[in-house]
Amino acid sequence: MRRTPALRDLRRETRLFPADFIHPIFVVEDRAAAGPVASMPGVTRYTIDQLDREIESIIGLGLRSLLVFGIPAAKSPTAYSAIAADSVVCRAVERIKKLTDRLVVITDVCLCSYTDHGHCGVVAGGAVDNDATLDLLGRTAVTHARAGADLVAPSGMMDGMVGAMRAALDEAGRLETGILSYAVKYASSFYGPFRDAAESTPAFGDRRSYQMDPANAAEALAEARLDIDEGADAIMVKPALPYLDVVRRVKDAFPDVSLAAYQVSGEYSCIKAAAAAGWLDERAVAMETLTAIKRAGADMIITYFAKSAAEWGKGVGSL
Ligand code: PBG
Repeated sequence: MRRTPALRDLRRETRLFPADFIHPIFVVEDRAAAGPVASMPGVTRYTIDQLDREIESIIGLGLRSLLVFGIPAAKSPTAYSAIAADSVVCRAVERIKKLTDRLVVITDVCLCSYTDHGHCGVVAGGAVDNDATLDLLGRTAVTHARAGADLVAPSGMMDGMVGAMRAALDEAGRLETGILSYAVKYASSFYGPFRDAAESTPAFGDRRSYQMDPANAAEALAEARLDIDEGADAIMVKPALPYLDVVRRVKDAFPDVSLAAYQVSGEYSCIKAAAAAGWLDERAVAMETLTAIKRAGADMIITYFAKSAAEWGKGVGSL
């Protein structure tokens, strides 16, 4: 069954499609901050008025979903620029929705790009105040929903974040806005390049008091269960490749819940750097990792390779 390409195609168990991918996009408020992200070759930070061309190209490639990250001009202890109705994320979503109704627009809901200390919640007495943060997450989610987001994606790993956001959305009459929860998010060192892109490196300490210990897998099931019970419409495991066992365990435990896996910035930049040095074949390695992530049980993949993968597979039924 491996002798010819056609036989191998017939035997193939896992196929990738452009519609499997969620394309992350960074939108900056400050014009001077736009441009390429040095630690993530091929990734660009756009201003709102640069979005149109990028969106056209995404649609042209057959991609269907976007994950929007906002980088505000002003940061503060209270993250006030996150909850504004005219925040950079809200304006980006409005712009995208005006341009097209063909894309699923997902917004990352976290405070780390908006706080001056870079933590994912408000800080009191040197530590993140979980419950004070929930109110801000709920308010932020409502502004994103009003701007037109299809799904809001809480990524801060605060306890009760899904329930708080669901309640806030319902109270605001946004019953149709869904929640894709970063339910199983590890305190990973693979997020380094992203923190350059999103300006979200914590000024003190680290995120280990709210993100998961990479040593734990059973705990992932507890995290997933909590978020499903609080009303998550889809859940996520993050990072992806170093955590394929977790992807598989979560899928097996909750087979009827949509599962996303996030191939994070460090996973991307490792491949890009090795390819630039001539040590790896970028296209072959990227496709192998994406196939592995889907094979492990992910229904959708957030990846910085989304555009490249769609491009590489152009004209082919599956990639
Ligand atoms: C914000 C957030 C992070 C990522 C997505 N949302 C960074 C972090 O938790 O430090 C990481 C994404 C990536 O590395 O590509 N909380």
